[in-house]
Amino acid sequence: MSWIREGELTIIERFCANVIKAGPMPKHVAFIMDGNRRYAQKCHVERQQGHSQGFDKLAQTLRWCLNLGIREVTVYAFSIENFKRSKEEVDGLMDLARQKFSRILEEQCFLNVCFAYTSRHEISNAVREMAWGVEQGLLEPSDVSESLLDKCLYTNNSPDPDLLIRTSGEVRLSDFLLWQTSHSCLVFQSVLWPEYSFWNLCEAILRFQMNYSALQKARDSYMEERRRQQMERDQAYVTKKLQQEGFASHGDSRRRRTLLQKCTAMREERIQGFLQALEHKRVDFFERLCTVSA
Ligand code: IPE
Ligand code: IPE
Ligand code: MG
Repeated sequence: MSWIREGELTIIERFCANVIKAGPMPKHVAFIMDGNRRYAQKCHVERQQGHSQGFDKLAQTLRWCLNLGIREVTVYAFSIENFKRSKEEVDGLMDLARQKFSRILEEQCFLNVCFAYTSRHEISNAVREMAWGVEQGLLEPSDVSESLLDKCLYTNNSPDPDLLIRTSGEVRLSDFLLWQTSHSCLVFQSVLWPEYSFWNLCEAILRFQMNYSALQKARDSYMEERRRQQMERDQAYVTKKLQQEGFASHGDSRRRRTLLQKCTAMREERIQGFLQALEHKRVDFFERLCTVSA
């Protein structure tokens, strides 16, 4: 029997889901699932029990997301900083992750799990990858841009989250998706993660809907600015090239236009080549990792 799909919504939950679905819905929701240990303390159960119920709550939340038509979910399950917790707790979390994630991930494919993750680590790794690309002669320094950095992140196959939810009343991101959430709706809720309910999720979506047009506007103007900056970089590149060839940088607008088109096409080609090389490098790394741990 499926763990995620079992159990439908009640009539009243279904009714509310349909009302909410009439408005703009987040396509991608990220969760910082926080408050497991406080929950365990509150309920006078073992800490490991709190974490275990946290994993079960994730399975239930994914079911609500499916029912609400949310196509992608990303969760912060364990941060690099969490390795500083006691060995007993870290081992317990690793055991739970092995047991529960293999079951959850077997059943669906719309979940991204950030495990042993921090955003700053992810971003600095992306910067290192681009520096490697320049060093290998695959990229020109002028190819380095925000849009290329996007493509070097672990999340490159996903759109940015529309909504980020943190439970347990903590109002910080704790180094989670810092780059990807600059135009996301951030919702902080006081409920402890193992007690998260369908109604908490509805409340967060309502808050997203109330802020939807402002979020859209911010995103659109950012994309516009990004396009403008790219155009500026391409123009500067062409000017430099013309000067190197001994042409006046402002003269002959047809030549300038042709060169601009050529430069843009060549940049795209370099970037595709670099991304392919990066993909191979990552596949190699994981293959070596699997061989070492086998
Ligand atoms: C979140 O709950 C789960 C992980 C970080 C693995 P916590 O373990 O942080 O619980 P609280 O926040 O201390 O209550
Ligand atoms: C953040 O929670 C990480 C996860 C939920 C996995 P923490 O409870 O570890 O974060 P801080 O230390 O309170 O910021
Ligand atoms: Mg915590």
